[in-house]
Amino acid sequence: MRKLSPSNIISISDLNKNQILEILDLSLKIKKKEVQFDLKHKVLGLIFDKSSTRTRISFHVAMTRLNGTTIDIDPKNSQIGRGEPIKDTARVLSRYIDAVAIRTYDQKSLEEYAKWSSIPILNALTDLEHPCQILADLLTIKEEFGKFENTIVTYLGDGNNISNSLILGCAILGIQINIGCPNDFKPDSGIIEKALSLSDNKDLVKITNNPQDAVRGANVIYTDTWASMGQESKTKESENLFKDFSVDRHLIKEASNDHIILHCLPAYRGKEITDEIIESKSSRVFDQAENRLHVQQAILAKVLS
Ligand code: CP
Ligand code: NVA
Repeated sequence: MRKLSPSNIISISDLNKNQILEILDLSLKIKKKEVQFDLKHKVLGLIFDKSSTRTRISFHVAMTRLNGTTIDIDPKNSQIGRGEPIKDTARVLSRYIDAVAIRTYDQKSLEEYAKWSSIPILNALTDLEHPCQILADLLTIKEEFGKFENTIVTYLGDGNNISNSLILGCAILGIQINIGCPNDFKPDSGIIEKALSLSDNKDLVKITNNPQDAVRGANVIYTDTWASMGQESKTKESENLFKDFSVDRHLIKEASNDHIILHCLPAYRGKEITDEIIESKSSRVFDQAENRLHVQQAILAKVLS
């Protein structure tokens, strides 16, 4: 197995097409129990400034399955919460542990950790990106369709961290990605620019404020909360603008017959998605959540073996 080099995953665009495909292949082998790794004595640190169920627990369990261990570095009861500079924390942790997964607000904080660390830094979600999630989503799409060619992915709702990493991931793999969102809630403009620079096809990323247009012919319909962590008040004031982007039985009529539904979770039923759709036979939401565990193991094996 080829190690990941460089070994930070701050943005999904830190990975090229081959590296993403290798992580997905390895994730599948791990899922099918065809390979095993031994990360004995390796320690993954977890620094989470925001709540988490899937990411935190899948990192913990992934390390356990790989025979390594994790340590929760709670910002509140470590010196991080009292304002110790990242450049000091990063250098000290580099001498104790082998990798750190960080969930925080500002992408720049992660870049600062990466600058001062001599161990791999993994983005466990920032306001800008959620790369580990998108790798699990790509695995779910690959398992369903067996390929990425001629697959249309549609993301509906708030142009947030999920949409940003999804756009980049799709651009790297050459997948058509449609974004349907209110005009004031488009994905990050720097991310769109970056995605376009990664692909020869300037029509690969389509952004529209018409949800039907976004969904037409889609094989994958993906949505996420309208109110990301830390941005709840901003989005609450604008909830009316999102109503037409709710994934419901009417909207999905526009999609391809073979479509699947994805949601990174946690989901707010009756808002970005109806209960009926998340529980429908097209939903792959819980396979997608399971895949976080297999992908997390593949990432850790690739950076720590
Ligand atoms: N999808 C996801 O990252 O979930 P958590 O916030 O529970 O980690
Ligand atoms: N966009 C959501 C994703 C949660 C996994 C958030 O940032 O809260």
